[in-house]
Amino acid sequence: KKLLLIDVDCGTDDAQAIMMAIAAPNVQILGITCVEGNTSLDNVCKNVLRVLKLCNRIDIPVFRGSGKALIGATIHASDFHGVDGLGDVPDPNAPGLELIQKEHAVDALKRITSKYPGQISLVATGPLTNLALAIRMDPAFPTKLKTLYIMGGNMESRGNTTACGEFNFLVDPEAANIVLNEFTCPTYIATWEHSCRSKLSWEWYDQWVNKGTKKADFIKKIYAHSLQFSKGDKESKALVAGPGFVSCDSYAMAAAIDESTVTSVIECGVTVETCGKYTRGMMVLDFIDSLKLTNKARIMNGCDLEKFKVLLENTVK
Ligand code: BDR
Repeated sequence: KKLLLIDVDCGTDDAQAIMMAIAAPNVQILGITCVEGNTSLDNVCKNVLRVLKLCNRIDIPVFRGSGKALIGATIHASDFHGVDGLGDVPDPNAPGLELIQKEHAVDALKRITSKYPGQISLVATGPLTNLALAIRMDPAFPTKLKTLYIMGGNMESRGNTTACGEFNFLVDPEAANIVLNEFTCPTYIATWEHSCRSKLSWEWYDQWVNKGTKKADFIKKIYAHSLQFSKGDKESKALVAGPGFVSCDSYAMAAAIDESTVTSVIECGVTVETCGKYTRGMMVLDFIDSLKLTNKARIMNGCDLEKFKVLLENTVK
């Protein structure tokens, strides 16, 4: 089985991505680490536990990580994901924070990757604060991973939070900069534009969430809040090339589960702008190798939507 660690700021699409990994028979999840992002760190931890309970996988250890970006004010994505991160449809029977492991997420990342050097794929679907801290605490951390899959950044400078800022990189540009500059293992990036171009039709979405299973009902419920945006005019304008259902974090997760969902990549050094007045948080692609970055990221540039849909269908079974 593929060994997986998942680092999330659990909003709606992170929840979806976790469920996708749980449903994949070829994957073993060694732990889920939490970071502040879409919602507060407490909510992120609760949301992960809620998803694990729904999937009868409360045995997967969940670790609490950084509750603040390295520098700068906290930004949440409450407009889209709801204040609680899961569409503000609380479950009174959701598990409590007492189930969170005592060990800090960054210590867990270091410990688990040291136990299985070169064997673990890490999927990061939130701000990269925990990963950057792990590198600073253990400079060998990047060499211990097999592959890193990131949802974040933009390949054509299109923002979804500011003009040039994609949410995950914008929340902690310094962390994203450290990770992209210093990671040495193969690194796949599912950018905002890639996600938008890999959208699914609303017809497909409607049949998917109306399967009548417990998991389909959950997905339908948590996404209801965001549909007013994703079906609405504002979000449609932010999307690249028209409306449709986009589950950003699932593209990174799908790549980790089945690399053949990625049909093409652009290989190039990438970093993140930390200073620009208009461009803070923007991903920078160094096509002419002027920065001499040692790692060349694989920017995902094509998705096999048929295979992707199968993974989504499996998620709600
Ligand atoms: C990313 O930002 C978050 O709101 C989503 O969960 C996704 O990880 C998209 O820009």
